[in-house]
Amino acid sequence: MLSVSGLFKQYISHDGTPGGGVFGADFTLKEGELFTLLGPSGCGKTTTLRSIAGLETPQKGRITLGSRDLFNSQSGVNVPMYDRDIGMVFQSYAIWPHMTVYENAAYPLKVGRKKKYSGAEVERKVKEALDMVGLGAFIQRPSTQLSGGQQQRLALARAFTREPDLLLLDEPLSNLDAQLREQMRSELKRLQKETGVTAIYVTHDQSEALAISDRIAVMNEGKIVQLGQPKDIYNRPTSEFVAHFIGRTNLIHGEMAHDAVAEATETVATPLGALRCFFPGTAKARKDIAIVVRPEHIRIRKAGAALEDGDNRLTGRLKAETYLGEIVEYVVDVAGKEFLVRTPFVQPIGPGDAVTLSFAPERTIALLEA
Ligand SMILES: Nc1ncnc2c1ncn2[C@@H]1O[C@H](COP(=O)(O)OP(=O)(O)O)[C@@H](O)[C@H]1O
Ligand SMILES: [Mg+2]
Repeated sequence: MLSVSGLFKQYISHDGTPGGGVFGADFTLKEGELFTLLGPSGCGKTTTLRSIAGLETPQKGRITLGSRDLFNSQSGVNVPMYDRDIGMVFQSYAIWPHMTVYENAAYPLKVGRKKKYSGAEVERKVKEALDMVGLGAFIQRPSTQLSGGQQQRLALARAFTREPDLLLLDEPLSNLDAQLREQMRSELKRLQKETGVTAIYVTHDQSEALAISDRIAVMNEGKIVQLGQPKDIYNRPTSEFVAHFIGRTNLIHGEMAHDAVAEATETVATPLGALRCFFPGTAKARKDIAIVVRPEHIRIRKAGAALEDGDNRLTGRLKAETYLGEIVEYVVDVAGKEFLVRTPFVQPIGPGDAVTLSFAPERTIALLEA
């Protein structure tokens, strides 16, 4: 549907010093997909979106929407922004202050469209979009009487009523409070699926990305470092960066004596003992391999308690316990290394107690990239 290949856009300062940007991004979107660019501030998410929208001119690369080249540095094609039929919602939203809430949301349906709608159809679509963002009761209000968060929601409703070929959403929920943000993200996903619009969503919030996306591209320093479904990104990170950026994790370094087969387990010798690890892909035997285990994939018991056969085991001493309501966090010292364990079950253990940690080999993930 949308294809981006070799996208390269570097900002150059006045004195010619090369700066940040996006350095060679490749991805393809399927029809109706909600695709997320996730990464820390400054990693190039907005630059990627602005290049697709036609607000930036990349130095290199190709962007194709359907069968049409929007940008191609080789052939010199660069379709102007207004001719791309791409909708965009920015972090800093823009609504028309001289119009009411209704007029703002209805505007894209009334001007310059191929498809014409009857008055009743426009009304139904606008009402639906405004209900989705919780502004159904504000239809006749002048838009200047809305709060900042409400204006952002109006900008979102307007982007959906426009029915673009592609919708670009740059941190559209960032100005909302936590509770509204969670509510809006599920509404947004529902509307996206109902309308069938293909969308690229940008966020630096990993839980937001995991909750709404069909697929996620994790970015760091202008590059896509991993691309996959939310559960793969979370359960099968390929690098320390992704493992740490998406949730909390325990990291151990070890050494492999044998080559590893893809999608299978292999033994890794670590200073804490031998561990059976899952290899998402093939790997040659090497001196240094990093492995990660999520805190919620570790079981903790009083030392000596019966444990499942075949699991990796470590013994240590409980250092701290934090009760967080729905879960308990334990910090355990294993031969001088701290492990974080999260479990919904309070254990009959206290600080200073000897404990055993156990975790399945399928949950002990070898990181194939450095
Ligand atoms: N207009 C600009 N001029 C110069 N540098 C910019 C400009 N916009 C972004 N950058 C730089 O490009 C990099 C990527 O920025 P951006 O795409 O906005 O990141 P993100 O949206 O992921 O936070 C950053 O290093 C940022 O400082
Ligand atoms: Mg940004």
